[in-house]
Amino acid sequence: MYVRNAWYVAAWTSEVSDEPVSRVICEIPIALYRKMDGAAVALEDRCAHRGFPLSAGRVVQDVLECGYHGFQFDCSGTCVRIPAQEIIPKRAKVRAFPVVEKDGWIWLWMGDAAKADEALVPDTHWMSDPAWATVTHSFAFACRADLIHDNLLDLTHESFIHTSTVGDEYIYKHGVTVEVEGNLISVDRLMPGVEAPPLYAQTMKTEGLYDRFHCTKFYAPSFHALHSGITGMGRPREEGFLITVMNAVTPIDPSHSHYFYAFSRNFGIDQESATQELIEGLATVLFEDKVALELQEIGLQSRPETETDVLIAQDEGIAKSRRIMAQLLDAEKLV
Ligand code: FES
Ligand SMILES: [Fe+2]
Repeated sequence: MYVRNAWYVAAWTSEVSDEPVSRVICEIPIALYRKMDGAAVALEDRCAHRGFPLSAGRVVQDVLECGYHGFQFDCSGTCVRIPAQEIIPKRAKVRAFPVVEKDGWIWLWMGDAAKADEALVPDTHWMSDPAWATVTHSFAFACRADLIHDNLLDLTHESFIHTSTVGDEYIYKHGVTVEVEGNLISVDRLMPGVEAPPLYAQTMKTEGLYDRFHCTKFYAPSFHALHSGITGMGRPREEGFLITVMNAVTPIDPSHSHYFYAFSRNFGIDQESATQELIEGLATVLFEDKVALELQEIGLQSRPETETDVLIAQDEGIAKSRRIMAQLLDAEKLV
């Protein structure tokens, strides 16, 4: 059901402190907290003693203490203290997950810890680059993670769902170029000689026609970097108003997903009013996606298994990503 040997975003840096927080990822309850040196720790959120959620306990220096009978677990998940007796049974352990914290995101490796490779954490440097300004949102969507992936790989929905913000009739009139390299699926759309999207036009202070572009890069199975923007007609993209939208999609269970969203821009970066407008405008965009995907989830729940999607040319990125996701799942089944 889930690709487990992968990094998934569990939280923003700002959410994790010496007060434990709980998250469910791939149906596994997890407690997150920070040690005294600031390092984030992720433990399975179920006490080895009698199953109480550890996130309902407290952090005592570097260990997490269960709120029910006081068992204490260190950052490796080993029980280091049982108040009622000296002897600690060997089985008094909880699972610990490898953690990487970078650019404001906290990533967990949900599979075999021996395979956790920090080099596989996707690039999110725009979040900490002073030449870019970022706004973030997080949502829980009542839909399977695959629907969020598909939504990001086929942006023609913008023409219908996001008409007042980033959508326009012309989007679906331009085709896509799809490339696959390992686990990376890139879907590129160039829209030459069009107006800037309404949500950004004011911040960009633009008038007239530009080349608009979208390039979604899906780092299967959990992260998309959408490079979009506008540039002068016929001019290189690097010269333009650039946006990198980072989308971390983390399954909760078969019909719920965490959605961590960061929108970085290289224009109007000191403009506080622009930042405020974007916070509100992008919340609208994400809410429109949430409503649509939750309706789609309801539609799919009642669809007979004999019926499948009718994919069209614009869905080429979706078709290719499904193939890669299936390969990743199969590879884990073989082990
Ligand atoms: S359930 Fe955690 S100490 Fe008893
Ligand atoms: Fe959308």
